[in-house]
Amino acid sequence: MNTTSNHIPKKYALEKPIHSNQYLVNGVLKEWAGDTAEVYSNIYYENGEPTLLGSVPDMDSGIANEAIKSAVTAFDRGKGVWPTMKVKDRIACMNTFVEKMKPHREEVVKLLMWEIGKNKQDAYKEFDRTIDYILDTIEAYKKLDRKSARFEKESGIFAHIRRSPLGVVLCLGPYNYPLNETFCLLIPALIMGNTTIFKPAKIGVLLITPLLKAFQESFPPGVVNIVFGRGRKIAAPIIKTGSIDVLALIGHSTSAVALQDEHPFKNRLRLILGLEAKNPAIILPDADIDLAVRECISGSLSFNGQRCTALKVLFVHKDVVDEFNKRFSAAVDSLNFGLPWEDESFLTPLPEKSKPAYIDSLIKDATSKGAKVLNTKGGKLTHNYCYPAVLYPVTKDMKVFHEEQFGPVVPIIPFSNIDEPLDAIADSEYGQQVSIFGKNTAQLGPLIDVLANLVCRININSACQRGPDIFPFTGRKNSAVGTLSVFDALRSFSIRTFVASKDNEYNNEILENLVASKDSNFITTEYLL
Ligand code: G3H
Repeated sequence: MNTTSNHIPKKYALEKPIHSNQYLVNGVLKEWAGDTAEVYSNIYYENGEPTLLGSVPDMDSGIANEAIKSAVTAFDRGKGVWPTMKVKDRIACMNTFVEKMKPHREEVVKLLMWEIGKNKQDAYKEFDRTIDYILDTIEAYKKLDRKSARFEKESGIFAHIRRSPLGVVLCLGPYNYPLNETFCLLIPALIMGNTTIFKPAKIGVLLITPLLKAFQESFPPGVVNIVFGRGRKIAAPIIKTGSIDVLALIGHSTSAVALQDEHPFKNRLRLILGLEAKNPAIILPDADIDLAVRECISGSLSFNGQRCTALKVLFVHKDVVDEFNKRFSAAVDSLNFGLPWEDESFLTPLPEKSKPAYIDSLIKDATSKGAKVLNTKGGKLTHNYCYPAVLYPVTKDMKVFHEEQFGPVVPIIPFSNIDEPLDAIADSEYGQQVSIFGKNTAQLGPLIDVLANLVCRININSACQRGPDIFPFTGRKNSAVGTLSVFDALRSFSIRTFVASKDNEYNNEILENLVASKDSNFITTEYLL
Protein backbone atom coordinates (compact mmCIF):
# COMPACT_ATOMS: atom_id res chain seq x y z
CA MET A 1 0.00 0.00 0.00
CA ASN A 2 2.76 2.41 -0.87
CA THR A 3 1.34 5.64 -2.25
CA THR A 4 4.47 7.73 -2.46
CA SER A 5 6.90 6.22 -4.90
CA ASN A 6 4.75 5.18 -7.84
CA HIS A 7 5.42 6.59 -11.22
CA ILE A 8 2.65 8.98 -12.31
CA PRO A 9 1.78 8.80 -16.02
CA LYS A 10 2.39 12.16 -17.72
CA LYS A 11 -1.27 12.47 -18.68
CA TYR A 12 -2.36 12.42 -15.05
CA ALA A 13 0.55 14.24 -13.43
CA LEU A 14 -0.10 17.69 -12.02
CA GLU A 15 2.08 20.29 -13.66
CA LYS A 16 1.63 22.92 -10.98
CA PRO A 17 -0.86 23.75 -8.22
CA ILE A 18 -4.10 25.39 -9.34
CA HIS A 19 -4.64 28.56 -7.36
CA SER A 20 -8.16 29.55 -8.27
CA ASN A 21 -9.44 32.79 -6.80
CA GLN A 22 -12.48 33.21 -9.05
CA TYR A 23 -16.11 33.00 -8.09
CA LEU A 24 -19.27 33.61 -10.08
CA VAL A 25 -21.83 36.12 -8.92
CA ASN A 26 -24.31 38.16 -10.98
CA GLY A 27 -22.86 36.85 -14.22
CA VAL A 28 -19.37 38.15 -13.46
CA LEU A 29 -16.32 36.01 -12.78
CA LYS A 30 -14.87 38.00 -9.92
CA GLU A 31 -11.44 37.82 -8.33
CA TRP A 32 -11.49 37.00 -4.63
CA ALA A 33 -9.01 39.01 -2.62
CA GLY A 34 -9.76 37.58 0.84
CA ASP A 35 -8.66 34.43 2.65
CA THR A 36 -7.99 31.29 0.67
CA ALA A 37 -7.96 27.62 1.66
CA GLU A 38 -5.26 25.30 0.42
CA VAL A 39 -6.43 22.06 -1.16
CA TYR A 40 -4.32 18.98 -0.47
CA SER A 41 -4.55 15.52 -1.94
CA ASN A 42 -4.58 12.82 0.70
CA ILE A 43 -4.15 10.34 -2.16
CA TYR A 44 -0.48 10.93 -2.88
CA TYR A 45 2.30 11.82 -0.46
CA GLU A 46 5.74 13.25 -1.25
CA ASN A 47 8.34 13.10 1.51
CA GLY A 48 5.67 12.22 4.02
CA GLU A 49 3.49 15.21 3.08
CA PRO A 50 0.16 15.24 1.23
CA THR A 51 0.39 16.86 -2.22
CA LEU A 52 -0.63 20.50 -2.53
CA LEU A 53 -3.17 20.68 -5.35
CA GLY A 54 -3.92 24.38 -5.17
CA SER A 55 -6.25 26.74 -3.37
CA VAL A 56 -9.77 28.15 -3.51
CA PRO A 57 -11.46 31.14 -1.87
CA ASP A 58 -12.40 30.69 1.78
CA MET A 59 -15.39 32.99 1.78
CA ASP A 60 -17.46 34.41 4.61
CA SER A 61 -20.91 35.82 5.27
CA GLY A 62 -20.21 38.96 3.19
CA ILE A 63 -20.18 36.85 0.08
CA ALA A 64 -23.34 35.10 1.22
CA ASN A 65 -25.16 38.44 0.94
CA GLU A 66 -23.68 39.15 -2.47
CA ALA A 67 -24.71 35.71 -3.78
CA ILE A 68 -28.21 35.86 -2.37
CA LYS A 69 -28.74 39.37 -3.76
CA SER A 70 -27.65 38.17 -7.18
CA ALA A 71 -29.92 35.08 -7.19
CA VAL A 72 -32.91 36.98 -5.76
CA THR A 73 -32.46 39.78 -8.33
CA ALA A 74 -32.25 37.25 -11.18
CA PHE A 75 -35.52 35.67 -10.02
CA ASP A 76 -36.85 39.22 -9.49
CA ARG A 77 -40.06 38.19 -7.69
CA GLY A 78 -40.99 36.03 -10.69
CA LYS A 79 -40.33 38.82 -13.20
CA GLY A 80 -36.76 37.75 -14.04
CA VAL A 81 -35.58 36.96 -17.55
CA TRP A 82 -34.87 33.33 -16.61
CA PRO A 83 -38.08 32.30 -14.82
CA THR A 84 -40.23 33.97 -17.51
CA MET A 85 -38.16 32.74 -20.45
CA LYS A 86 -39.62 30.41 -23.09
CA VAL A 87 -38.86 26.76 -22.34
CA LYS A 88 -37.08 26.36 -25.65
CA ASP A 89 -34.77 29.28 -24.84
CA ARG A 90 -33.86 27.82 -21.44
CA ILE A 91 -33.12 24.54 -23.20
CA ALA A 92 -30.88 26.38 -25.66
CA CYS A 93 -28.86 27.80 -22.71
CA MET A 94 -28.51 24.28 -21.27
CA ASN A 95 -27.33 22.94 -24.63
CA THR A 96 -24.74 25.71 -24.80
CA PHE A 97 -23.55 24.77 -21.33
CA VAL A 98 -23.17 21.08 -22.09
CA GLU A 99 -21.15 21.83 -25.21
CA LYS A 100 -18.87 24.13 -23.20
CA MET A 101 -18.50 21.51 -20.47
CA LYS A 102 -17.47 18.61 -22.73
CA PRO A 103 -13.95 19.88 -23.60
CA HIS A 104 -13.06 19.91 -19.86
CA ARG A 105 -13.43 16.12 -19.51
CA GLU A 106 -9.72 15.35 -19.06
CA GLU A 107 -9.09 18.19 -16.56
CA VAL A 108 -12.11 17.26 -14.45
CA VAL A 109 -11.29 13.54 -14.51
CA LYS A 110 -7.69 14.21 -13.47
CA LEU A 111 -8.87 16.30 -10.53
CA LEU A 112 -11.45 13.68 -9.54
CA MET A 113 -8.56 11.24 -9.18
CA TRP A 114 -6.30 13.62 -7.25
CA GLU A 115 -8.91 15.18 -5.02
CA ILE A 116 -11.13 12.28 -4.05
CA GLY A 117 -9.12 9.25 -5.18
CA LYS A 118 -11.77 7.90 -7.56
CA ASN A 119 -10.19 5.32 -9.84
CA LYS A 120 -9.67 6.28 -13.46
CA GLN A 121 -12.47 4.18 -14.86
CA ASP A 122 -15.04 5.49 -12.36
CA ALA A 123 -13.80 9.07 -12.75
CA TYR A 124 -14.41 8.97 -16.51
CA LYS A 125 -17.75 7.31 -15.82
CA GLU A 126 -18.73 10.13 -13.45
CA PHE A 127 -18.03 12.77 -16.08
CA ASP A 128 -19.77 10.92 -18.92
CA ARG A 129 -22.76 10.00 -16.77
CA THR A 130 -23.16 13.68 -15.91
CA ILE A 131 -23.18 14.71 -19.57
CA ASP A 132 -25.78 12.00 -20.26
CA TYR A 133 -27.82 13.22 -17.29
CA ILE A 134 -27.93 16.75 -18.69
CA LEU A 135 -28.93 15.54 -22.16
CA ASP A 136 -31.57 13.20 -20.72
CA THR A 137 -32.90 16.06 -18.58
CA ILE A 138 -33.32 18.23 -21.68
CA GLU A 139 -35.26 15.45 -23.42
CA ALA A 140 -37.40 14.79 -20.33
CA TYR A 141 -38.23 18.49 -20.06
CA LYS A 142 -39.29 18.65 -23.71
CA LYS A 143 -41.55 15.67 -23.12
CA LEU A 144 -43.02 17.25 -20.00
CA ASP A 145 -43.57 20.52 -21.85
CA ARG A 146 -45.27 18.73 -24.76
CA LYS A 147 -47.75 17.18 -22.34
CA SER A 148 -48.58 20.65 -20.99
CA ALA A 149 -49.09 22.25 -24.41
CA ARG A 150 -52.88 22.05 -24.21
CA PHE A 151 -56.02 23.13 -22.36
CA GLU A 152 -58.11 20.85 -20.18
CA LYS A 153 -61.77 21.41 -19.41
CA GLU A 154 -63.56 20.29 -16.25
CA SER A 155 -66.89 21.48 -14.77
CA GLY A 156 -67.07 24.38 -17.19
CA ILE A 157 -63.54 25.62 -16.49
CA PHE A 158 -60.62 25.62 -18.93
CA ALA A 159 -57.22 25.00 -17.37
CA HIS A 160 -53.76 25.36 -18.82
CA ILE A 161 -51.55 23.43 -16.39
CA ARG A 162 -47.76 23.66 -16.34
CA ARG A 163 -44.91 23.40 -13.89
CA SER A 164 -43.37 26.64 -12.60
CA PRO A 165 -40.11 27.27 -10.75
CA LEU A 166 -40.00 27.54 -6.96
CA GLY A 167 -37.59 30.49 -6.67
CA VAL A 168 -34.03 30.53 -5.34
CA VAL A 169 -32.29 27.17 -4.81
CA LEU A 170 -29.23 26.55 -2.63
CA CYS A 171 -27.32 23.50 -3.99
CA LEU A 172 -24.82 21.63 -1.85
CA GLY A 173 -23.19 18.44 -3.11
CA PRO A 174 -21.14 15.62 -1.56
CA TYR A 175 -17.45 14.73 -1.91
CA ASN A 176 -17.99 11.20 -3.23
CA TYR A 177 -19.74 12.37 -6.43
CA PRO A 178 -18.71 16.02 -6.46
CA LEU A 179 -19.63 16.48 -10.11
CA ASN A 180 -22.45 14.04 -10.79
CA GLU A 181 -24.57 14.33 -7.69
CA THR A 182 -24.22 18.10 -7.51
CA PHE A 183 -25.21 18.48 -11.15
CA CYS A 184 -28.14 16.10 -10.63
CA LEU A 185 -29.50 18.85 -8.36
CA LEU A 186 -28.27 21.94 -10.16
CA ILE A 187 -29.29 21.06 -13.72
CA PRO A 188 -32.99 20.24 -13.10
CA ALA A 189 -33.24 23.21 -10.72
CA LEU A 190 -31.95 25.50 -13.46
CA ILE A 191 -33.87 24.14 -16.38
CA MET A 192 -37.17 24.54 -14.51
CA GLY A 193 -36.49 28.28 -14.21
CA ASN A 194 -35.12 28.60 -10.68
CA THR A 195 -32.09 30.73 -9.91
CA THR A 196 -29.31 29.05 -7.94
CA ILE A 197 -26.44 29.39 -5.54
CA PHE A 198 -24.03 26.48 -5.66
CA LYS A 199 -21.30 25.81 -3.13
CA PRO A 200 -19.02 22.86 -3.91
CA ALA A 201 -18.11 20.37 -1.16
CA LYS A 202 -14.90 20.83 0.87
CA ILE A 203 -13.23 17.91 -0.90
CA GLY A 204 -13.73 17.70 -4.67
CA VAL A 205 -13.76 21.46 -5.14
CA LEU A 206 -10.97 22.29 -7.59
CA LEU A 207 -12.60 20.14 -10.25
CA ILE A 208 -15.46 22.64 -10.44
CA THR A 209 -13.13 25.55 -11.27
CA PRO A 210 -12.57 24.67 -14.97
CA LEU A 211 -16.36 24.91 -15.44
CA LEU A 212 -16.88 28.41 -14.01
CA LYS A 213 -16.50 30.12 -17.38
CA ALA A 214 -18.91 27.67 -19.05
CA PHE A 215 -21.56 28.58 -16.46
CA GLN A 216 -20.86 32.27 -16.87
CA GLU A 217 -21.13 32.17 -20.66
CA SER A 218 -24.22 29.95 -20.85
CA PHE A 219 -26.77 31.51 -18.50
CA PRO A 220 -28.12 35.03 -17.92
CA PRO A 221 -26.51 37.01 -15.05
CA GLY A 222 -27.40 35.84 -11.54
CA VAL A 223 -28.99 32.54 -12.62
CA VAL A 224 -25.99 30.48 -11.50
CA ASN A 225 -23.89 31.79 -8.61
CA ILE A 226 -20.88 29.75 -7.47
CA VAL A 227 -19.20 30.46 -4.15
CA PHE A 228 -16.54 28.62 -2.15
CA GLY A 229 -15.93 28.04 1.52
CA ARG A 230 -17.11 26.11 4.54
CA GLY A 231 -20.80 25.39 5.00
CA ARG A 232 -21.12 27.06 8.38
CA LYS A 233 -19.42 30.22 7.09
CA ILE A 234 -21.45 30.62 3.90
CA ALA A 235 -24.38 28.21 3.62
CA ALA A 236 -25.78 29.02 7.07
CA PRO A 237 -25.79 32.83 6.49
CA ILE A 238 -27.40 32.30 3.07
CA ILE A 239 -30.24 30.27 4.61
CA LYS A 240 -30.59 32.76 7.49
CA THR A 241 -31.61 35.51 5.05
CA GLY A 242 -34.93 33.71 4.59
CA SER A 243 -34.70 34.18 0.81
CA ILE A 244 -33.95 30.56 -0.06
CA ASP A 245 -36.94 28.63 -1.40
CA VAL A 246 -35.28 25.23 -1.85
CA LEU A 247 -32.45 23.52 -0.01
CA ALA A 248 -31.05 20.86 -2.35
CA LEU A 249 -28.42 18.87 -0.51
CA ILE A 250 -26.71 15.53 -0.94
CA GLY A 251 -24.83 14.84 2.24
CA HIS A 252 -25.37 14.11 5.89
CA SER A 253 -28.70 14.50 7.69
CA THR A 254 -27.05 16.46 10.51
CA SER A 255 -25.98 19.20 8.03
CA ALA A 256 -29.45 19.21 6.47
CA VAL A 257 -31.14 19.61 9.86
CA ALA A 258 -28.70 22.31 10.99
CA LEU A 259 -29.35 24.32 7.83
CA GLN A 260 -33.14 23.95 8.00
CA ASP A 261 -33.01 25.24 11.55
CA GLU A 262 -31.43 28.47 10.30
CA HIS A 263 -34.35 29.31 7.98
CA PRO A 264 -36.68 31.88 9.53
CA PHE A 265 -39.71 30.83 7.42
CA LYS A 266 -39.89 27.06 7.78
CA ASN A 267 -42.77 26.41 5.38
CA ARG A 268 -41.20 28.47 2.65
CA LEU A 269 -38.24 26.09 2.50
CA ARG A 270 -38.68 23.07 0.25
CA LEU A 271 -36.26 20.23 0.83
CA ILE A 272 -34.66 17.94 -1.70
CA LEU A 273 -32.24 15.78 0.21
CA GLY A 274 -30.17 12.66 -0.51
CA LEU A 275 -28.79 11.55 2.83
CA GLU A 276 -26.97 8.64 4.45
CA ALA A 277 -28.04 4.99 4.34
CA LYS A 278 -27.16 1.61 5.78
CA ASN A 279 -28.23 -0.63 2.90
CA PRO A 280 -28.25 -4.32 3.86
CA ALA A 281 -27.77 -7.43 1.76
CA ILE A 282 -29.75 -10.51 2.77
CA ILE A 283 -28.21 -13.77 1.62
CA LEU A 284 -30.79 -16.58 1.73
CA PRO A 285 -29.92 -20.29 2.08
CA ASP A 286 -30.51 -21.04 -1.63
CA ALA A 287 -28.46 -18.07 -2.91
CA ASP A 288 -25.91 -18.55 -5.67
CA ILE A 289 -22.90 -17.90 -3.42
CA ASP A 290 -20.46 -16.96 -6.19
CA LEU A 291 -22.90 -14.41 -7.56
CA ALA A 292 -23.65 -13.08 -4.06
CA VAL A 293 -19.92 -12.72 -3.31
CA ARG A 294 -19.30 -10.88 -6.59
CA GLU A 295 -22.17 -8.46 -6.08
CA CYS A 296 -21.39 -7.91 -2.39
CA ILE A 297 -17.78 -7.07 -3.28
CA SER A 298 -18.78 -4.37 -5.76
CA GLY A 299 -21.73 -3.33 -3.58
CA SER A 300 -19.72 -2.87 -0.40
CA LEU A 301 -16.32 -1.83 -1.72
CA SER A 302 -16.65 0.10 -5.01
CA PHE A 303 -15.03 3.45 -4.34
CA ASN A 304 -13.98 1.96 -0.99
CA GLY A 305 -17.57 1.89 0.23
CA GLN A 306 -17.87 5.69 0.02
CA ARG A 307 -21.28 5.63 -1.67
CA CYS A 308 -24.61 6.30 -0.03
CA THR A 309 -25.90 3.27 -1.96
CA ALA A 310 -23.08 0.97 -0.77
CA LEU A 311 -23.96 -2.29 0.95
CA LYS A 312 -23.03 -1.46 4.52
CA VAL A 313 -24.09 -4.61 6.31
CA LEU A 314 -24.47 -8.23 5.12
CA PHE A 315 -27.03 -10.56 6.74
CA VAL A 316 -26.09 -14.14 5.80
CA HIS A 317 -28.19 -17.21 6.61
CA LYS A 318 -26.49 -19.58 9.07
CA ASP A 319 -26.72 -22.51 6.60
CA VAL A 320 -24.41 -20.77 4.14
CA VAL A 321 -22.50 -18.28 6.25
CA ASP A 322 -19.28 -20.32 6.56
CA GLU A 323 -19.01 -20.86 2.83
CA PHE A 324 -19.93 -17.24 2.10
CA ASN A 325 -17.39 -15.91 4.59
CA LYS A 326 -14.60 -18.07 3.16
CA ARG A 327 -15.19 -16.98 -0.43
CA PHE A 328 -15.97 -13.35 0.43
CA SER A 329 -12.82 -12.91 2.59
CA ALA A 330 -10.62 -14.42 -0.12
CA ALA A 331 -12.22 -12.13 -2.71
CA VAL A 332 -11.59 -9.06 -0.52
CA ASP A 333 -7.94 -9.98 -0.07
CA SER A 334 -7.50 -10.37 -3.82
CA LEU A 335 -8.69 -6.84 -4.62
CA ASN A 336 -6.11 -4.54 -6.17
CA PHE A 337 -5.11 -1.52 -4.16
CA GLY A 338 -3.37 1.25 -6.06
CA LEU A 339 -3.33 4.85 -7.15
CA PRO A 340 -6.39 6.09 -9.04
CA TRP A 341 -4.61 6.43 -12.39
CA GLU A 342 -3.23 2.86 -12.35
CA ASP A 343 -5.16 0.56 -14.67
CA GLU A 344 -5.97 -2.23 -12.23
CA SER A 345 -6.78 -0.17 -9.12
CA PHE A 346 -10.07 -1.12 -7.51
CA LEU A 347 -9.32 0.06 -3.97
CA THR A 348 -7.72 3.50 -3.76
CA PRO A 349 -6.48 5.81 -0.97
CA LEU A 350 -9.09 7.65 1.08
CA PRO A 351 -9.55 11.41 0.55
CA GLU A 352 -10.52 12.24 4.14
CA LYS A 353 -7.55 12.42 6.48
CA SER A 354 -9.51 11.20 9.47
CA LYS A 355 -11.21 8.23 7.73
CA PRO A 356 -8.56 5.48 8.21
CA ALA A 357 -8.52 6.09 11.97
CA TYR A 358 -12.33 6.08 12.08
CA ILE A 359 -12.53 2.77 10.21
CA ASP A 360 -9.86 1.39 12.52
CA SER A 361 -11.91 2.49 15.54
CA LEU A 362 -14.96 0.61 14.20
CA ILE A 363 -12.86 -2.52 13.78
CA LYS A 364 -11.41 -2.21 17.30
CA ASP A 365 -14.85 -1.64 18.79
CA ALA A 366 -16.23 -4.74 17.02
CA THR A 367 -13.28 -7.00 17.88
CA SER A 368 -13.37 -5.89 21.52
CA LYS A 369 -16.98 -7.14 21.61
CA GLY A 370 -16.36 -10.54 20.03
CA ALA A 371 -16.08 -10.08 16.26
CA LYS A 372 -13.10 -11.40 14.32
CA VAL A 373 -11.37 -9.97 11.26
CA LEU A 374 -11.74 -12.85 8.79
CA ASN A 375 -9.38 -11.73 6.03
CA THR A 376 -5.60 -11.67 6.29
CA LYS A 377 -5.14 -8.11 5.03
CA GLY A 378 -8.18 -6.75 6.91
CA GLY A 379 -7.56 -3.64 9.00
CA LYS A 380 -3.98 -3.00 7.82
CA LEU A 381 -3.53 0.69 8.42
CA THR A 382 -1.42 3.30 6.63
CA HIS A 383 -1.45 7.10 6.66
CA ASN A 384 -4.23 7.20 4.05
CA TYR A 385 -5.87 3.78 4.01
CA CYS A 386 -7.33 1.05 6.12
CA TYR A 387 -7.54 -2.21 4.14
CA PRO A 388 -11.14 -3.52 4.15
CA ALA A 389 -11.78 -5.75 7.14
CA VAL A 390 -14.44 -8.46 6.94
CA LEU A 391 -15.92 -8.50 10.45
CA TYR A 392 -17.78 -11.55 11.77
CA PRO A 393 -19.98 -12.15 13.70
CA VAL A 394 -21.27 -8.61 14.12
CA THR A 395 -23.90 -7.93 16.78
CA LYS A 396 -26.20 -5.07 17.71
CA ASP A 397 -23.94 -3.78 20.48
CA MET A 398 -21.19 -2.91 17.98
CA LYS A 399 -20.97 0.55 16.43
CA VAL A 400 -20.51 -0.82 12.92
CA PHE A 401 -23.96 -2.45 13.15
CA HIS A 402 -25.65 0.97 13.24
CA GLU A 403 -23.24 3.65 12.02
CA GLU A 404 -22.91 4.44 8.33
CA GLN A 405 -19.22 3.59 7.94
CA PHE A 406 -18.92 5.21 4.48
CA GLY A 407 -15.59 3.45 4.06
CA PRO A 408 -13.82 0.11 3.72
CA VAL A 409 -15.14 -2.24 6.40
CA VAL A 410 -17.75 -4.98 5.88
CA PRO A 411 -19.80 -6.27 8.82
CA ILE A 412 -21.40 -9.71 8.46
CA ILE A 413 -24.31 -10.81 10.66
CA PRO A 414 -25.50 -14.45 10.73
CA PHE A 415 -29.25 -15.09 10.96
CA SER A 416 -31.51 -18.12 11.19
CA ASN A 417 -34.92 -16.43 11.12
CA ILE A 418 -35.76 -13.88 8.40
CA ASP A 419 -37.39 -11.68 11.05
CA GLU A 420 -33.90 -10.89 12.36
CA PRO A 421 -32.81 -8.84 9.30
CA LEU A 422 -36.35 -7.52 8.81
CA ASP A 423 -36.47 -6.23 12.39
CA ALA A 424 -33.04 -4.65 12.00
CA ILE A 425 -34.18 -2.85 8.82
CA ALA A 426 -37.39 -1.67 10.48
CA ASP A 427 -35.47 -0.43 13.53
CA SER A 428 -32.83 1.33 11.43
CA GLU A 429 -32.75 5.12 11.07
CA TYR A 430 -32.41 4.60 7.33
CA GLY A 431 -34.50 3.19 4.50
CA GLN A 432 -32.91 3.55 1.09
CA GLN A 433 -32.38 0.13 -0.59
CA VAL A 434 -31.79 -3.57 0.06
CA SER A 435 -30.24 -6.44 -1.91
CA ILE A 436 -31.67 -9.93 -1.58
CA PHE A 437 -29.90 -13.05 -2.83
CA GLY A 438 -31.88 -16.25 -3.47
CA LYS A 439 -34.20 -17.86 -6.01
CA ASN A 440 -37.07 -19.64 -4.25
CA THR A 441 -40.09 -17.50 -5.10
CA ALA A 442 -42.10 -18.86 -2.15
CA GLN A 443 -39.49 -17.20 0.06
CA LEU A 444 -38.68 -14.18 -2.11
CA GLY A 445 -42.28 -13.14 -2.77
CA PRO A 446 -43.42 -12.49 0.82
CA LEU A 447 -40.01 -11.01 1.65
CA ILE A 448 -40.35 -8.47 -1.18
CA ASP A 449 -43.84 -7.58 0.07
CA VAL A 450 -42.47 -6.61 3.48
CA LEU A 451 -39.31 -4.90 2.22
CA ALA A 452 -41.38 -2.77 -0.16
CA ASN A 453 -42.78 -1.11 2.98
CA LEU A 454 -39.39 -0.48 4.54
CA VAL A 455 -37.07 0.71 1.74
CA CYS A 456 -37.44 2.25 -1.73
CA ARG A 457 -35.60 -0.20 -4.01
CA ILE A 458 -35.27 -3.95 -3.67
CA ASN A 459 -32.43 -5.39 -5.75
CA ILE A 460 -32.74 -9.08 -6.55
CA ASN A 461 -29.39 -10.86 -6.83
CA SER A 462 -27.55 -7.60 -7.43
CA ALA A 463 -25.88 -4.84 -5.46
CA CYS A 464 -27.67 -1.61 -4.54
CA GLN A 465 -27.06 1.32 -6.86
CA ARG A 466 -28.50 4.65 -7.91
CA GLY A 467 -28.56 4.08 -11.67
CA PRO A 468 -29.93 4.00 -14.25
CA ASP A 469 -30.72 7.65 -13.58
CA ILE A 470 -34.07 7.28 -15.27
CA PHE A 471 -35.31 5.24 -12.25
CA PRO A 472 -36.47 6.92 -9.01
CA PHE A 473 -33.76 7.52 -6.43
CA THR A 474 -35.12 8.15 -2.97
CA GLY A 475 -35.29 6.79 0.56
CA ARG A 476 -37.34 6.66 3.73
CA LYS A 477 -36.61 8.05 7.21
CA ASN A 478 -33.20 9.70 7.47
CA SER A 479 -32.14 8.60 3.96
CA ALA A 480 -33.87 11.16 1.74
CA VAL A 481 -36.49 13.84 1.29
CA GLY A 482 -38.02 14.00 -2.20
CA THR A 483 -37.33 11.84 -5.23
CA LEU A 484 -34.64 12.25 -7.83
CA SER A 485 -34.54 10.68 -11.28
CA VAL A 486 -34.20 12.48 -14.55
CA PHE A 487 -37.99 12.98 -14.62
CA ASP A 488 -38.71 13.21 -10.87
CA ALA A 489 -36.09 15.90 -10.37
CA LEU A 490 -37.95 18.15 -12.81
CA ARG A 491 -41.03 17.72 -10.64
CA SER A 492 -39.12 18.16 -7.37
CA PHE A 493 -37.75 21.56 -8.46
CA SER A 494 -41.08 22.94 -9.66
CA ILE A 495 -44.70 23.26 -8.69
CA ARG A 496 -47.88 22.70 -10.69
CA THR A 497 -49.41 26.02 -11.58
CA PHE A 498 -52.31 26.75 -13.89
CA VAL A 499 -54.31 29.41 -15.61
CA ALA A 500 -58.07 28.86 -15.27
CA SER A 501 -60.96 30.56 -16.99
CA LYS A 502 -64.70 29.92 -17.12
CA ASP A 503 -65.92 28.59 -20.44
CA ASN A 504 -67.75 31.56 -21.96
CA GLU A 505 -67.46 33.51 -25.18
CA TYR A 506 -65.75 36.48 -23.58
CA ASN A 507 -63.00 34.44 -21.87
CA ASN A 508 -62.55 32.01 -24.73
CA GLU A 509 -61.79 34.79 -27.18
CA ILE A 510 -59.15 36.13 -24.80
CA LEU A 511 -57.61 32.65 -24.44
CA GLU A 512 -57.53 32.20 -28.20
CA ASN A 513 -55.87 35.59 -28.62
CA LEU A 514 -53.35 34.81 -25.90
CA VAL A 515 -52.29 31.65 -27.72
CA ALA A 516 -52.26 33.24 -31.18
CA SER A 517 -50.44 36.42 -30.15
CA LYS A 518 -47.71 34.52 -28.23
CA ASP A 519 -47.89 37.37 -25.70
CA SER A 520 -47.39 34.84 -22.87
CA ASN A 521 -44.55 32.36 -22.51
CA PHE A 522 -46.64 30.42 -19.98
CA ILE A 523 -49.77 30.08 -22.08
CA THR A 524 -48.47 28.37 -25.15
CA THR A 525 -49.47 25.35 -27.15
CA GLU A 526 -46.14 25.30 -28.97
CA TYR A 527 -44.99 21.70 -29.38
CA LEU A 528 -41.26 21.33 -28.72
CA LEU A 529 -39.58 18.78 -30.98
O1 G3H B 1 -23.51 8.23 -2.90
C1 G3H B 1 -24.56 7.86 -3.44
C2 G3H B 1 -24.66 7.78 -4.92
O2 G3H B 1 -25.87 8.29 -5.40
C3 G3H B 1 -24.47 6.40 -5.38
O3 G3H B 1 -24.62 6.28 -6.73
O4 G3H B 1 -25.01 3.83 -6.82
O5 G3H B 1 -24.36 5.09 -8.84
O6 G3H B 1 -22.72 4.73 -7.01
P1 G3H B 1 -24.14 4.89 -7.38
